[in-house]
Amino acid sequence: MPRGYFITFEGLDGSGKTTQLRRLAAWLNASGQHVITLRQPGSTPLGDRIRAILLDSRSESTLGSIAPLAEMALMFADRAQAIAEVIAPALAAGHIVLCDRFTDSSEAYQGAGRQLGSDRILAMHAAVCDNLQPDLTLLLLPPLAAALSRARRRNQRDTAKSKSEPEGADNVAADENRFERESTEFHARIHAAYIQIAAREPHRVVPISEDAGDNSIDAIELRIRAVVAQRLKL
Ligand code: ADP
Ligand code: TYD
Repeated sequence: MPRGYFITFEGLDGSGKTTQLRRLAAWLNASGQHVITLRQPGSTPLGDRIRAILLDSRSESTLGSIAPLAEMALMFADRAQAIAEVIAPALAAGHIVLCDRFTDSSEAYQGAGRQLGSDRILAMHAAVCDNLQPDLTLLLLPPLAAALSRARRRNQRDTAKSKSEPEGADNVAADENRFERESTEFHARIHAAYIQIAAREPHRVVPISEDAGDNSIDAIELRIRAVVAQRLKL
């Protein structure tokens, strides 16, 4: 069976994943590759419902506090559905799949952020996702403070935008701040967990750190292209 290529983007909220994923998809498409993009949670009808529950900071007022293990299980329910409905068929057809977050996010956010531990997340991944591993994970690593302030600015813009739009089904889930409202310590644990995952799996996980050089969106895009071109032999 032909096997496509599975690339995931990881990093804190505000690290630039969505921006870079879109740019990489456009570049790969322009070079004639067949690219499928998705994000987690979401990108299937079931996943979009799960996303609305997990990300909306207003969920807790209607559902009560979401237990960390319930949160973990919902993330994996979303992932199992995305694998069955989108990722596995696309890889079987030989396509390139670009996914905004995957199981490393569960290990970082639920394993470290919520302190459930990596072992439980990895066992769940084996049980629910047949241990499907990305071929390449691009880990975007701006300094913690930069990522958080970019995410907050973006969310203020998004919230202001949704408030200025008429009420409707499309903006029911417009407030996606539930995780971003967590403490700096929570995000610091996530940041540290990502660095540990990269050290544990250096072949799969390529850190894209912001350093003393040019860290503009364009410069990071070029660094990502170079990694992907080398892996895909483009
Ligand atoms: P994520 O998907 O990881 O949450 P986004 O791609 O939505 O991150 O980026 C969050 C915000 O930060 C956006 O407003 C984006 O334009 C901005 N941004 C992304 N990358 C950079 C960068 N390298 N330098 C400055 N701003 C950036
Ligand atoms: P999203 O808007 O996709 O991320 P970003 O703000 O980086 O663009 O939000 C997804 C949120 O869900 C994010 O805060 C991380 C969290 N999350 C988990 O806690 N565990 C997971 O397994 C996944 C996939 C996401």
